[in-house]
Amino acid sequence: MAGSVPGVSELVADARRVFGQVFGGEAPPVAVCAPGRVNLIGEHTDYNQGFVLPMALPLVTVVVGSQTSGQDVSIVTATEDADEPRRVDFSLAGDGSALSPGLPRWANYVKGVLQHYRAPPVPGFRAVIASSVPLGGGLSSSASLEVAFYTFLQQLKPDDGDKVSKAVACQQAEHTHAGVPCGIMDQFVCVLGREGHALLIDCRSLQASLVPLADPHLLILITNSNVKHSLSGSEYPSRRRQCEEAASVLGRDSLRDATMEELDEARGRLDEATYRRARHVIAEIQRTLQAAEALKRGAYREFGKLMVESHNSLRDLYEVSCRELDELVSAAAEVEGVFGSRMTGGGFGGCTVTLLQAHAIDRTILHMQERYSGTPTFYVTTPSAGARALTLS
Ligand code: GLA
Repeated sequence: MAGSVPGVSELVADARRVFGQVFGGEAPPVAVCAPGRVNLIGEHTDYNQGFVLPMALPLVTVVVGSQTSGQDVSIVTATEDADEPRRVDFSLAGDGSALSPGLPRWANYVKGVLQHYRAPPVPGFRAVIASSVPLGGGLSSSASLEVAFYTFLQQLKPDDGDKVSKAVACQQAEHTHAGVPCGIMDQFVCVLGREGHALLIDCRSLQASLVPLADPHLLILITNSNVKHSLSGSEYPSRRRQCEEAASVLGRDSLRDATMEELDEARGRLDEATYRRARHVIAEIQRTLQAAEALKRGAYREFGKLMVESHNSLRDLYEVSCRELDELVSAAAEVEGVFGSRMTGGGFGGCTVTLLQAHAIDRTILHMQERYSGTPTFYVTTPSAGARALTLS
């Protein structure tokens, strides 16, 4: 990781310190964490029942806390956000209206998880959240918070432990309480990520296979453009609708099994933008499968070529990239030792992901810094573990 990012134990110490300041009393007995994620390839394919290839990050959200005797809930976030109060209080008693979405916005993820928790009712509690996942940076800060909170509730009142259902419950929280009709990728990999591996997720069957990614000669560089265009909110649901429209014209449940030939035959019945969206999705699903195979063989050049194709398709056909992401990807591609680079996540800002030879890391960062018109943040990462309870010393 880049030097300045706090590790899990630092975040736990920070959250426990805040807990003591706010609530006093004994140190909280429970601590959990859940990672952010980066998607290596397979973008905007999850809600089309396709394949994705993400990995969990060493950037995490931590929740510490303790159960209380009543039904009152108090949650504090240690994350600075100048616009919003850092504390929220409500009661779990009554008709559940306390769980309706409202302000502060960060608490909606928690309320959504409480609403969709699979072993209700949960007892009252006090909790503090601390995170190293950049907010709104395209590394799934929201899924990381949802999954961390779900994991926290599991320590207070266990559910049946089914991990896929846990990911689905957290996805529901995002749908109902953040208003984002997201696919399953983010929550799935936050729950099931594994150290030293990427996950090839089949978003139709909800089964995943582990793809080893622990070659010491290889690095994954995440570059945050530090821009977030306002388009990101409205364009995501509209892309999703266009894909559903294309699938329905093709007479399919989703674009998962649609072929390019079918799409071209139906071209006259689709508007131009919808046609291009579907073209991206159909090709991207195939690229993701090829990329997973290439990674298993250690064929990094082939993998990198697929990453670049994915980026170009997101830029030209799916139209979710932006000038800043394109700049970063082009800059990375100019460096000797870089296998490939692409935008990652929903788009319109956020991050790029670059696969490169370990020895090329310094010159890659330097070159991207020089070429980028904005101020980037870099994270040198390795695939990390999914959500877990932490043992406190
Ligand atoms: C966001 C969503 C995911 C996925 C990506 C695009 O991160 O939360 O479900 O659709 O965009 O691949």
